[in-house]
Amino acid sequence: MLKKWRFLGLLVVAFGIVWVIRSQPTISMAHPPDSPPSYYHDIAPIIAQHCLMCHTEGGIGTVALDTPESAVENSAKIALTAAVGDMPPWMPGPESPAMLHERKLTEEEITLLVEWARADAPLGDPSEAVEVNPTEIPSIRQDVVLTMPEYTPDATLRDDYRCFLIDPQVAEDRYITAYTVQPGQPSVVHHVLLYQIEGWGRALAERRDAQDEGLGWQCFGGPDVAGVDGGLENSIGSWTPGTFPTIFPEGTGVRLIGGGLIIMQVHYNLSAGALPDQTSAILQLAPADAEIQPLTTYSLYAPVEIPCPADTTNPECDRATARRLILEQTGRRPTDLMDMCQHSLEDYIHQDAANVTSTCEYPVPYNLEVISVLAHMHLRGKSIRIESNPSESDGQVILDIPDWDFHWQGGYILQEPLLLKRGDTVRITCVWDNTHGDNLRYIFWGESTEDEMCLGAVITRQATR
Ligand code: HEC
Repeated sequence: MLKKWRFLGLLVVAFGIVWVIRSQPTISMAHPPDSPPSYYHDIAPIIAQHCLMCHTEGGIGTVALDTPESAVENSAKIALTAAVGDMPPWMPGPESPAMLHERKLTEEEITLLVEWARADAPLGDPSEAVEVNPTEIPSIRQDVVLTMPEYTPDATLRDDYRCFLIDPQVAEDRYITAYTVQPGQPSVVHHVLLYQIEGWGRALAERRDAQDEGLGWQCFGGPDVAGVDGGLENSIGSWTPGTFPTIFPEGTGVRLIGGGLIIMQVHYNLSAGALPDQTSAILQLAPADAEIQPLTTYSLYAPVEIPCPADTTNPECDRATARRLILEQTGRRPTDLMDMCQHSLEDYIHQDAANVTSTCEYPVPYNLEVISVLAHMHLRGKSIRIESNPSESDGQVILDIPDWDFHWQGGYILQEPLLLKRGDTVRITCVWDNTHGDNLRYIFWGESTEDEMCLGAVITRQATR
């Protein structure tokens, strides 16, 4: 729903952009006005390279764009979503360091799409078709394949978040050097997160599994197994549509706990229907006797204290009432991170509900190279940023997501590892908007769609520099 409104808003903005381009003949064009870009020569290669990993029949993209007819029919929408930067979906903003497999269009490509739509989407001459080399997808070894049972998402929901317990049957500690996910039903699988728990957690996870009817259990913000930490230290991987296999730098790997278990969390977006799915995660392991430098994940949390708009009279907007209700309804006391981050309630309760900001800072224990970075908030998230030595001359941005969209959360691998020095400070900053919805309440940290999180993680190796 939110998405639809956002899309409408974007339409308006994009029409503005198209209009501006149209009304300013001085803007340099890739093509003179008498020969507009054509589908075969200019547009098909852009679509093939940047869109088809999601926009084919049965893909997660809501329209197929893999035929000349479908591209022509959708030309206006293609131009609009590209011009406003909504497609292809890619959350890290321009301040973020360069990431592997970025999904970004160049200015020139955007101009071509806009120009083409403006010229009524001419097909051009098929003999001018430009040969496109399909993007090469790196292949990895399938040493362990983790397959969930076939599950049919709950058709009464728009989004079904489901966790499955899987035994990788790996007795001794090993190192994961690469992984990927193969969605069983690409049109519904919107993201997959993999967590590992130690073998002793089996009974706890099985108890949680048994609580819900059907296969697996409902989970949103994390594995939701009491007694098992849902922090990103336990996360071994994340996947969203269009993601390439993750390959860690040569000689490094993430520890796969011997005798442990995997919880696979799958987010089903059911706009295409509640089709049955059986998704697999594929792990490539280093040989048992290989010398591997372990990658270490550091989680970054900031307090979640999100007040309602000042004029709201809803009783649940009172912090104490909201806290009591959560305790009564779930038996859980909302997590309070204020002490750890040296903040007080005063820092939060008077904030503007449309821009509630929370931060926390962490000292770097020794020289580290950041290989990869992850960020996680829920549906009220607006932006998230992870940076070192903020507002100092040697400060570095590790990840900046100016326009958070829960549906595209995941991890990113830096093109160049980023050095953090012992004694540096790493800060995480989250911003939320708590002005939408019928049932506003004071929001705390929690696992449900109605709660929020401010969670980041850096996957690092000890620096050799
Ligand atoms: C990584 C997957 C992915 C890639 C790559 C991608 N899209 Fe999308 N696209 C989606 C999804 C998913 C939606 C449905 C809305 C949403 O979730 O944002 C969508 C929606 C759209 C829509 C709106 C369709 C409607 O319902 O009206 C258009 C138009 C579109 N994409 C065009 C493009 C173009 C053009 C490209 C390439 C330049 C592209 N997309 C690349 C996943 C993708």
